[in-house]
Amino acid sequence: MTAISQPFLSASALDKTFELHAQGGQQLTVMRGLELSLAPGECLVLAGRSGIGKSTLLKMVNGNYRVSGGSLTLHFDDGELELSDLPGQAWHVLRRDVIGYVSQFLRVVPRVSAREVVMEPLLSRGFEAHEARSRAETLLARLNLPERLWDLAPGTFSGGEQQRVNIARGFIAEHPLLLLDEPTASLDSANRDVVVRLIQEAKARGTAMLGIFHDEDVRACVADRLLPMEGHMLGADEAMLSKPQPGSLSTATPTATKATPRSRFDEC
Ligand SMILES: Nc1ncnc2c1ncn2[C@@H]1O[C@H](COP(=O)(O)OP(=O)(O)O)[C@@H](O)[C@H]1O
Ligand SMILES: [Mg+2]
Repeated sequence: MTAISQPFLSASALDKTFELHAQGGQQLTVMRGLELSLAPGECLVLAGRSGIGKSTLLKMVNGNYRVSGGSLTLHFDDGELELSDLPGQAWHVLRRDVIGYVSQFLRVVPRVSAREVVMEPLLSRGFEAHEARSRAETLLARLNLPERLWDLAPGTFSGGEQQRVNIARGFIAEHPLLLLDEPTASLDSANRDVVVRLIQEAKARGTAMLGIFHDEDVRACVADRLLPMEGHMLGADEAMLSKPQPGSLSTATPTATKATPRSRFDEC
């Protein structure tokens, strides 16, 4: 595959501070000065210990968490879209057409069957029901979800079954940008392999992916580069707690670490 160097997603001097309204308006800064660049067909893996801010970054890119400072930009052929100040109503279209997100846990809606959960991203784009249904079934079968579960709501499914429904839903619409938050955490090795293949196929069609994978083998198979989060992600231990005081966080800015090139991941 030819390397494409134009980024599809970039972040510059990205900051995240949570305002803890329930705790007297204290501020918790968990990210300072994050830089990243992600090209089409590339999988950038966020690395760092639990609580460092990996999921927070994915939620910022998905518009679930607001950006506190810096820029987060999508680069289209006909121009750029700055996500940090995007109005709320624009996110719906962006999530439908551009950004796919496999969250850590499936958001279960009562009485909606597994098949319908997976079909929904295609239906929202105006696909015919039979086409959406057929693609959903293909994915559920590839992910070895027993057919007897397809008509049931996933609320009572096991963690691994719910995760596979979530993965099928995330991959079905072939978004150009895919965010993956520990998609293989509750899967057995056979289904981990299926997910690795889905990721490799997505790469081959030019999907840009930002992912979190704890499983070393999966990581080795899918990562083009690692983005070490220590350095600009302060995490729970070092997170700066302060009363809201503009400018009070200007010291101790960690040096932004550039993503390291792939080195020992040449096995797959
Ligand atoms: N909604 C929130 N409000 C306040 N703090 C949060 C929120 N979400 C995450 N955090 C804090 O941000 C830090 C990073 O969390 P997270 O991104 O989930 O870490 P990771 O995914 O690397 O394990 C943690 O200290 C966490 O408590
Ligand atoms: Mg996380």
